[in-house]
Amino acid sequence: MSKKLAAGNWKMNGLAASLAEIDALAGAVKGAGCEVLICPPAILIAQMAAKAKGSNVFVGGQDCHPKVSGAHTGDVAAAMLADAGASHVILGHSERRADHGESDADIRAKAEAAGAAGLVRIICVGETEGERDAGQTLAVIGTQLDGSVPDAATAADTVIAYEPVWAIGTGRTPTLEQIAEVHDFLRDRLTRRFGADARGMRLLYGGSVKPSNAAEIFAVSNVDGALVGGASLKAADFAGIVSALSAA
Ligand code: PGA
Repeated sequence: MSKKLAAGNWKMNGLAASLAEIDALAGAVKGAGCEVLICPPAILIAQMAAKAKGSNVFVGGQDCHPKVSGAHTGDVAAAMLADAGASHVILGHSERRADHGESDADIRAKAEAAGAAGLVRIICVGETEGERDAGQTLAVIGTQLDGSVPDAATAADTVIAYEPVWAIGTGRTPTLEQIAEVHDFLRDRLTRRFGADARGMRLLYGGSVKPSNAAEIFAVSNVDGALVGGASLKAADFAGIVSALSAA
């Protein structure tokens, strides 16, 4: 398996002045035993990548268009992210599924484009609170996983993030048993589809991860890291999560 991964998603937060956090983070995570990634707004990628150069902080995008180029006003192609210095891209985040109506087929097409551009793609899945209450969690996640992950996915180029929609930005997290149930399900389903290689595919948990709950979440079976929103905005908080993952 590749190293575990602590991925930060800044969402639509951050201005040029926020890049100071990267200097602080790079210093704090020197020698970390896991991969460290920050995905800022697209407009900050090039500057952040320049700052992160020579450190062990990777920089990624939060979305890409499925096409290589063309008449798609406002969109960013995967090769443009790579050209700006990104190594990874988050795809199918629940906020994109909800705000932009992204379907599993859209996400799969984006994931194929990301792979063609040499980016590691972090594909997100997760149930809403209503779906969990209705007992549909695994069915929903299974459908998202089957539909969003390209047939050519490997452990080297694909990461899966389980993010219950109701846990994102709410301060609420599933129980450790609930996280284990979903992560075991993901591992099993990926291994059936992709074979032994999928045992090394990293599975991240996301949704209200903080320095104070990171260690217990990282101790859950089949949790290979985290996708972190709010707590990735401040270097000190994110460094606490990175150090919990390094110690796991
Ligand atoms: P949160 O966001 O850590 O702020 O809950 C997680 C995410 O949306 O990736």
